[in-house]
Amino acid sequence: MARRPIGVFDSGVGGLSVLRHVRAMLPAEDLLYVADSAHAPYGGKSAQFIESRALAIAGFLVARDARALVVACNTATAAAIASLRQKYDLPIVGMEPAVKPAVEATRSGVIGVLATSGTLESGKFAELVQRFGSRARVIVQPCPGLVERVEQGDLAGPLTRRLLAGFVQPLLDEGADTLVLGCTHYPFLEPLLRELVGEEVAIIESGAAVARQLVRRIGEADFLDIRPQGTERFFSSGEPGQLEALLPRLWGGPASVERLTAG
Ligand code: DGL
Repeated sequence: MARRPIGVFDSGVGGLSVLRHVRAMLPAEDLLYVADSAHAPYGGKSAQFIESRALAIAGFLVARDARALVVACNTATAAAIASLRQKYDLPIVGMEPAVKPAVEATRSGVIGVLATSGTLESGKFAELVQRFGSRARVIVQPCPGLVERVEQGDLAGPLTRRLLAGFVQPLLDEGADTLVLGCTHYPFLEPLLRELVGEEVAIIESGAAVARQLVRRIGEADFLDIRPQGTERFFSSGEPGQLEALLPRLWGGPASVERLTAG
């Protein structure tokens, strides 16, 4: 009998940075990925709107028989994971900015968190800082406009460089030696960020940790799996061609994209 797939979603292409870790750890699983590109970015939108999108997309994935969900978006996790868990009795894994590993890693005692305003203003983030923030100074940096650059596939052009440099420099000026990428779009900017901050600054993202958490939740690790390679299906609420054009770079190979038919 075919194994039921795992559903992964984000406001757009950011969740692909998580999907690649999921694929590396679970090579035999069939994966469904939804980019809610018609509604990206989520960052400045209301929590209620994001919650309603997350519920609609989860409904779409569950209707396609998903047996676990990954909310590959920090903003949607903050706004909607409680409602998703209330509604669906499945393993549901969400994102969380890596504040804990960052406060453990910092030597200067100052960490910078780059994320959307939606994430940084959420109750979940306030809790996170309350739990771990006493061990270091936590400086938050909303990054309006950055998600749009990644959605455009502009990972290192002059506009992206200027935006990112403007967000990061104040953190460096305050003495941050550890930067948390608290939005799943930002790992695609890591090469540019590394160029801007140099080798001495640690950059931490949560994709691998979330994939490990998924493995724990579904109770299997497929490293030794002898089943054939799993498949991926990609859906977008926006223009499928736009995601198709980005997949070779952001996913690592070409794939066709289906239009999100519900949700
Ligand atoms: N990728 C997202 C996150 O992790 C959402 C970005 C957005 O749509 O604003 O927060």
